[in-house]
Amino acid sequence: MADPFYITTAISYPNGRPHIGHAYEAIAADVIARFQRLRGRRVRFQTGTDEHGLKMARKAEEQGRTPADLADEMSGYFQQMCDALDVSYDRFIRTSEPDHHRASQAIWQAMEAAGDLYLDRYEGWYSVRDEAYYDESELAEGEGGEKLSPQGTPVEWTVEESWFFRLSKYQDQLLKLLRSPGFLEPASRRNEMIAFVEQGLRDLSVSRTSFDWGVKVPGSEGHVMYVWVDALTNYLTGLGYPDEMGDLWPASLHLIGKDIVRFHTIYWPAFLMSAKLPLPQKVFGHGFLLNRGQKESKSLGNVTDPLDLAERFGVDALRYFLIREVAFGQDGSYSPEAIVQRANGELGNAFGNLAQRTLGFIAKNLDGALPAIRGHAAADTELFETVERAITTDMPQAFEALALQQAVEAWLQAVFACNAYIDAQAPWTLRKTDPERMETVLATLYTCIAQLAVAISPVIPASSAKLLDMLGVPADLRNLQGIRSHWYSPLAESDFRLSAPTPLFPRLELPAEAA
Ligand code: MF3
Repeated sequence: MADPFYITTAISYPNGRPHIGHAYEAIAADVIARFQRLRGRRVRFQTGTDEHGLKMARKAEEQGRTPADLADEMSGYFQQMCDALDVSYDRFIRTSEPDHHRASQAIWQAMEAAGDLYLDRYEGWYSVRDEAYYDESELAEGEGGEKLSPQGTPVEWTVEESWFFRLSKYQDQLLKLLRSPGFLEPASRRNEMIAFVEQGLRDLSVSRTSFDWGVKVPGSEGHVMYVWVDALTNYLTGLGYPDEMGDLWPASLHLIGKDIVRFHTIYWPAFLMSAKLPLPQKVFGHGFLLNRGQKESKSLGNVTDPLDLAERFGVDALRYFLIREVAFGQDGSYSPEAIVQRANGELGNAFGNLAQRTLGFIAKNLDGALPAIRGHAAADTELFETVERAITTDMPQAFEALALQQAVEAWLQAVFACNAYIDAQAPWTLRKTDPERMETVLATLYTCIAQLAVAISPVIPASSAKLLDMLGVPADLRNLQGIRSHWYSPLAESDFRLSAPTPLFPRLELPAEAA
């Protein structure tokens, strides 16, 4: 059985419609999932919505509807967004689903059996927006003197009877985990978590009694689980927990935003340790996406619907931009003009034109027949080696290291090398002077383009598939194994004929507001 790879995104609160940050995380996770499939691994990819908690309950109340009704509507938009953006999830989980309630109650019972749950009274600060408890010492002061969470959200004083989880018991094990290389990335996020644990962990309040929108605590009338307990458990639900989960657990990668690292690298591992389940291999906290350097917010009126962007510029242009532009792990900024520039310059001019010129030339001058290679000139070998290095070494290494931007850069360098080659070899001149050599040049380009199309398919899946269709590359060769080396000869002997290519990346207009 191929090496399993289980990747998850955070599941989103469906208290409103998705914004660009949700699209960014879903796309990044999809790129990683598709890359691993391309490598031949057995991938499982889960995303979804996090539907319980006080935030959902209050938002529904504000709107005069039930939380279930709010969740039904908004969750639909999240799923639609994933579908529209070609996010290839295997399961879109909703925490209101019955199997998730069952899984959450099972992990609760496992923690209870470990002696890690006890009843007490919670008295302290809570941020509904973050759905998080904060210690007095963590709070900041707002402009009007009000108390704010470290994320800048309002907190309220909360007093209620609740179940507690013995988080303090896991302090040493958590420190060891946080210090182990590779568990939490980027490494820059580790110190903050280590400091948080080192300063001493208090037991965590894990149930609420003041509202009932949540998973019922087994055997404890009036208590629903703290939303993060059930939310985090979604990662297990999707694999069938508490039944046999197969070999996909532990997860290979939880991809999340940097603001929820504490929940994933402290609370979640502690719950798993308590329930005697293996820990995820890696948690990666990506940065935030800013709109022209500013956080999007309703009050600034700069909230962008990711589907509007996709419609305006194309799904693949948007996907490409986000991966290419942002150093993965750091914050990034986007604007319509930046998207247009990248898409026109790199997808359109560099890659699209390369394919267009080559395929058009083969269609026109060779009647679409795939040219044969007749001997290698040094320039051909050099180009093959450049492309081969990009797709078999540089790109996979970068993708494995989650350096997504570098993977695209390596690809782009190889595209540039192809462009330099076509200009230097000038097949349009060879047509008259040396038709045999022209065929070799075109065959070389044909192969390189096919390889580059496969290698970039995790980022621009639809365009890449369209190009590979035009190239006549059979489905079973569209992976890193199949596309390697000199598989073009069987194709050259096939009777597949290239047609005049249709444009892959229509030129985008610079938006009027940029002027
Ligand atoms: N809904 C949370 C948020 O948006 C994320 C939950 S991720 C999970 O901040 F792991 F808990 F599911």
